[in-house]
Amino acid sequence: MKKRKSIIIITGASSGIGAEFALQTDAAFPSVDEIWLIARRKERMEETARVMEHTTRLIPMDVTDEYAMDDLRELLEKENPVVRILVNAAGFGLIGAFEELSLDEQLEMLLVNCEALTRLTYLTLPFMRRGSRIIQLASCAAFLPQPYFAVYAACKSYVLSFSRALGKETAPYGIFVSAVCPGPVNTEFYDRAERYADVPAYKTLTMISAEQCVSEALKGAYLKKSVIVPGIPMKVFRLCCKYLPQELLIRAAACLKA
Ligand SMILES: NC(=O)c1ccc[n+]([C@@H]2O[C@H](COP(=O)([O-])OP(=O)(O)OC[C@H]3O[C@@H](n4cnc5c(N)ncnc54)[C@H](OP(=O)(O)O)[C@@H]3O)[C@@H](O)[C@H]2O)c1
Repeated sequence: MKKRKSIIIITGASSGIGAEFALQTDAAFPSVDEIWLIARRKERMEETARVMEHTTRLIPMDVTDEYAMDDLRELLEKENPVVRILVNAAGFGLIGAFEELSLDEQLEMLLVNCEALTRLTYLTLPFMRRGSRIIQLASCAAFLPQPYFAVYAACKSYVLSFSRALGKETAPYGIFVSAVCPGPVNTEFYDRAERYADVPAYKTLTMISAEQCVSEALKGAYLKKSVIVPGIPMKVFRLCCKYLPQELLIRAAACLKA
């Protein structure tokens, strides 16, 4: 019988955290046969793939496009791989007052950050086996409703809640789900996020690199952690959100403008 190939699937692979996952999984998992990279910008994925050791499959697609998702499902059915790791890193955020941001773009956030992540998880789960990992990019914005970052923070609360619950369903089958909750990470994320309003200065003080974020995420996923919070400042922030009155923190966030 033909041996099924093992693969890693990474969305958001054209930039930032997703591209860094491609590089670090390339180095860390030599036994995997292929790494599949998903994003809209093919040329940016090509740049990353060029420096990788693994065979890569580039899948240029918009994750909100249902027809493209159908093509991906067909590809998975045809190839019948074992998905060792799924990283859902495609996503974006917009800073600013809800009323002043474009409604269409805020709804697009729901599609990319929540709906597409859910679809991809559903599509790939049947191809996983004991030891497989699902790594979902949430955010420390998931811990607290955030005025002037309202829809983004709500999306990430969804990702965190969904991932923790799903992890309990899949753990008996040896499939572990990790929600990664970084604070600010130095990527192109802010090129789009700051289109309407600037990121508050206090957030840039705690910014970490994509390398650190991904390295902590992969260690946490290996250790089967359900929630991974890279960097010490955000671990402190998570504790504050757990133990201090939420209303007080939300008011403080509103004063500091997200
Ligand atoms: N940077 C931060 O401070 C930070 C903090 C916490 C959590 N996060 C989360 O981490 C994840 C990665 O963000 P990042 O910092 O790496 O941002 P980034 O550098 O802007 O990367 C975002 C990635 O998402 C892809 N993407 C966006 N919309 C897409 C669509 N409709 N279809 C397919 N791909 C799409 C982009 O690819 P194309 O444009 O080529 O399609 C790109 O590869 C996001 O979920 C983000 O919310 C980021």
